[in-house]
Formats: sequence, C-alpha cells, structure tokens
Amino acid sequence: MKKPQAIQRIAKLREEINHHRYLYHVKDTQEISDAALDSLKKELHDLEQTYPDLIIATSPTQRVGGQALTSFKQIPHSTRMLSLEDAFSTKELTAWEERNQKIVPGKYQYFAELKIDGLAVALIYENGELITGATRGDGSTGEDVTHNLKTIEAIPLTLRGQPQGKIEVRGEVYMLKKDFEQLNAQRAKRGEKLFANPRNVAAGSIRQLNPAMTATRPLRFFAWEITAGLSAANRQQEYQQLQDLGFPVPPGATVFSSLAAVAAYLKQAELSRLSQPFLVDGVVLKINDLSLSRRLGIVGKAPRGSIAFKFAAEEATTVVEDIVVQIGRTGVLTPVAQLRPVQVAGTTVSRATLHNAGEVARKDVRVGDTVVIHKAGDIIPEVVKVLPKLRPRGTKPFTMPTSCPVCRAKVVQEPGGAAHRCSNPNCFPVQREQISHAIGRSGFDIEGLGDKIVEQLLQAGLIEDPPGLWQLTVGDLTPLERFADKSADNLIKEIATHKKIPLARFLVALSIPNVGTVTAQDLAREFRELAKIQQASVAKLAAVDGVGQVVATSLAQFFKAPRTIKLLDQYQQAGIIVSKAKSGGPLAGQTFLFTGSLPQMTRDEAKQRIQALGGKVASAIGKNVNYLVAGEAAGKKERQAKALGLKIISPQQFAQMIS
Ligand code: IVH
Repeated sequence: MKKPQAIQRIAKLREEINHHRYLYHVKDTQEISDAALDSLKKELHDLEQTYPDLIIATSPTQRVGGQALTSFKQIPHSTRMLSLEDAFSTKELTAWEERNQKIVPGKYQYFAELKIDGLAVALIYENGELITGATRGDGSTGEDVTHNLKTIEAIPLTLRGQPQGKIEVRGEVYMLKKDFEQLNAQRAKRGEKLFANPRNVAAGSIRQLNPAMTATRPLRFFAWEITAGLSAANRQQEYQQLQDLGFPVPPGATVFSSLAAVAAYLKQAELSRLSQPFLVDGVVLKINDLSLSRRLGIVGKAPRGSIAFKFAAEEATTVVEDIVVQIGRTGVLTPVAQLRPVQVAGTTVSRATLHNAGEVARKDVRVGDTVVIHKAGDIIPEVVKVLPKLRPRGTKPFTMPTSCPVCRAKVVQEPGGAAHRCSNPNCFPVQREQISHAIGRSGFDIEGLGDKIVEQLLQAGLIEDPPGLWQLTVGDLTPLERFADKSADNLIKEIATHKKIPLARFLVALSIPNVGTVTAQDLAREFRELAKIQQASVAKLAAVDGVGQVVATSLAQFFKAPRTIKLLDQYQQAGIIVSKAKSGGPLAGQTFLFTGSLPQMTRDEAKQRIQALGGKVASAIGKNVNYLVAGEAAGKKERQAKALGLKIISPQQFAQMIS
C-alpha cells in the first residue's frame, strides 16, 4: 500500500479498534468477535511496521512499548489524592449524615455504588491524549506508572470526542477473580510462588518497572471521579461524562432520595458480593450533589461528602502458639501473637499484633488460647477475643519482660503511657530499624543497602547510626560476606551520592516519634529550615496545620535531647546537606486570608492549593497578610483590610492566581 492510502487506512483502523474497545469495556457489548478484532489490530500493526514514522504514542498498538525503567519518577498530584472514611454499620452512616447536616443543612440525595478492592490511580489527559498516570503515593505525590497503565485496555489512550485542555480522571485498577485464578493456575504449573489475592497482583503489577511484565497481567479499570477539566452538577452526571469520554464506571450505581432508602441496596450488595466477578469490599456512598459535597469540605484525608460502607470483615479462629515481644524503631516493645496459620479474607494470617501490655491484659490472651482473628480488607489482622471455654489447663497470663529480650537493658514504662520501652538507645533492633528507616524510600532513598547488610554492618561494629554510613570505605565492606570489590565500590558510591537531602525527607530519616511523612512535609513547608524547627517553641510547633499538641511536644523533646544534638552533629560531620524546603513555589512568601464564601471551591480546597504552591493561609487579619480574598458577603474583615491598606482580590482573581 502506498503511503497516502496507508495514512488513511491507519486512521480508520485506529478509530475502529477504539470503537470496539469502548463497546467492550464501557458498554459491555461486542459487535465483532475477539478474533476479528485481533485481525484488525494485526493489520494496523503491520502497516505501522511498514511506515514506522506514522506510529503515534496513542495508537492502540502502543500499549506495550518502551524500555524497562530503572526507577519510578515522582509526580506531584494537582490536588491531593484523598481516601474515604469507613463506616461499619448503618448507625455510623446516620451519624455521618447528622454531622454533615450540621455543616450544610438541606435535603441530601445519595449516589451508591460498589467499592472495588483495587489500587487507586490518577490519569492525566491533554487535548484528549493520555499523558501521565500515577499511583496515589502519599496523597500529595505519586509514582509515574504511565507505561504500565497504558497496557490496560480499559483505560482509553485517547478520549472520545478529543476534548481540548487538561482532564484528570481517577479510578481503580483491579483484576477479575477468574483472571486471578487462571494466573495462579499457570504459576502453579510452572512451580512459581502463588499470589495471595487479586488486589495484591493489581498493586504489584502496577509497580513493575518492566511494562512487558505488566502487559501479561490481565488488569482492568473503573473510573470514579473527574478531578479536573470538566464539571458536573452531580455524581450521576459525572458518571455519564466518564462513560462518554470512554471510561468504564463501577456497575450498578444508583441514586437514592434518602439514607433510609439506601439500606436495601447495602444488603443486596453484601449478598451478591461473592457472585461479583471482582473483589467488592463495600459500598461507596456519595452525596449526589457535587456543589453540596464540595461545600462540606475535607476532614483529615477524606472528603466529608463521601463514605465507604465496609462489609463485615471476615473472621476465623486459630490457636496462639506463642507471644513474642518485638522492639521497634523507637525502642517500644510490642507483644505479637504467633498464630497457627489460618486463612482470613483471602490471605494467610500467622501473626497478629497485640499492641501493648494493656491490650493483652484487657483481652487476656495467653499462649495456648483459641482466639478469633479479624481482618478487614488490607487492615492488619487483629485478635478480637479469646474463646475461654477452649482454654487448656495451666496457662499463665502474659507479662511484659522487665529486661529487653535483645540487649537485656532495663525496660521502662512511660509515665501515664501504655508503652514499654527498652532503655538502651543503642539496642540492636532499634539501631537497625532506625538505620533502615533513614535510608528507606521516604528518607535518604539509598538503594542496594538492604536490612541484611545493615545488620552485618552493625554486627561488625562498622556503624552505630545512620551518619556512620558516610564514613564507610570500600575496605570496610570487602571483608564482609556477600561483598566483592565491585559491589563494595558500588555501594560506597551510592551512599556518597546521597549527601544532599530535602528537609522533609531528613525529618523522616531522623525517626522522630509521632512524625511520619505527612507531618514532616507540613513542618518543612511551614519552617523551611531545620534550624527554625529546632528553635521553635511547643506552641509554635503546635500551631502548624497537621501538628497537634502531642506531636509538638515530642518534636520539642526530640530536638532538645543531647542524643539528637550529637546525631545532628554527626550528620554535619558526614557532610550531609539538608536543603531548605522549596520556597520556589509560585506563591512562596505570600499569605492569604479569606472572608465571605468562595463560589468555586471550599476553603479547605483553596487552602490546599495555596499550600501546594508554596503559600500560606492566615487565620486572622494582620500586617503579614498579602491578599484578602473577599468572597460574597464579605464584611468586617474587608473594612479592616482596607484600613491596613492590604490588597483585596475577588474569588475570580484568586482562581486565576492559583490556576
Ligand atoms: S470514590 C476521595 N468509588 O476505595 C476518594 N472509590 O477506601 C473518592 N474505591 O480511595 C473515591 N471503589 O481507591 C470511589 N466506587 C468507588 C470505589 C472507590 C473503590 C477505592 C478508592 C478509595 C478507597 C477508599
């Protein structure tokens, strides 16, 4: 075929193949057989091979392409990827409605749909073409998994109608139960390790570096939200828009005129759960009206306008074979029940945390007891209760050891607290965990330094704490088991290239009690420099959004401790440079204050956007405020702002600034 004809034929073939993709995944119908569709795909493939310059990234032939990656790129989300609050009973649903009614009174309609147990992803389209796809990550930043998402046929590479501009769609990647079983049957034949459940395969497949591997996993996708580019009046309309764009949505979604009317749907969904072709772990209930839902805002990591009704978790009974005590990163002793292995909710459970001594005493769990184990979704399995009639003779209540089971140092109980701690800061597992944590993905992110090596280094006395890593030499490593000259050299080089670290990551690496990645980011954004956090008072720390009194107190204590001062000094001697938190955001140094209502977004959303762009939000008027955003019904604050000569802008001007 000549090129001009090929150009036309290729365009038609692409359109035809996309049409059949849409029918199959969105409309649940088929006009032609799989074999006929394969034949169209083959013709397209062959033509593209003849004229490779006609290949485009969004061609249906380009679902598996490109080289395997060596690591994932981080992608900041345009708006935080939220999660949902859980409800386990209709009583909790009623309480949810009552709380919402207090904030925004009115008549609510509800949109109910199946909650699919998979993995949340965000897809970004520009002018109708899929540009990037990312995992949720920590909600603010995800991993770029575009190459893997492209292999999923239910995800359109081009949107129907080629809408212009940017559109962001979020949804769930999952696997059908039958595909999962088939996959495992093949693996069993080849003598490979079996996967635990469809959710794990979906999650594992999306985080593959080699897209060719992902392409062998039959993954599917349901869209549940449009977060940019299009707006709808309600959830029903949003689902119609999603389908029109070419996305499948969760089946059976229904609108109800009241919460009471939803009850029958919940029952039915639970009854039909096992006969669904995919894993369903509950029902998502959303307030149908989107502007109402937005006005309700966000609490913690979840929107108030939606909730996940979780089906009763699966339970099973088993026997406690032993209760061991583990030592964590901050030296806390945690009793853990070693269980006779048992299947619960699709996974084998052989251990369950008993949290602390108080919890063991309350439940009176003893070695030899038969216990009820509970597991909901991916929540850590828990011992619900002991079945006392099945208790054998001669059991003894559990007691916490008075000396550390590892280093024999004294165990102390925190005053007023439930926690028991090993009093030796150099206790081996504490050191090991702190080092592993410091070099982990949220900290220095040093590769090739697994737990085993850290253990060897500690045992050989080569390091005591994370800064010690930068003092290591090739000669230190080569005598160790598993190290050849080359691998030792590589590791030393890898460590050396990780001397510069952003403030938030450094805070994570320090293993400050009660400070995780989110709090670390909040602190970094607010203070920008380590020294400012070190000097801040408890009150100043507690005033930071996302930091409460408890965290502020532990932060202040941590930075005062002589041990911390020594540690920071060692980091400095090792040549570690903690970079200032970005002041590069377009709104850096700008402080906003709101008054009156915003028509397009809730205050929470506005605040999040400002913070994401490096700006700040004030809670009261003052000289530090740069802009007063005066919405409808602005009153006193606007007059005060005028008196102070501050800049007053309209919500529309504000929307432009942050867009
Ligand atoms: S709507 C703010 N609808 O369940 C998030 N989520 O436990 C809006 N999920 O984060 C989510 N099926 O990953 C929605 N039909 C559905 C869903 C669904 C599964 C996931 C989603 C969400 C998690 C919350």
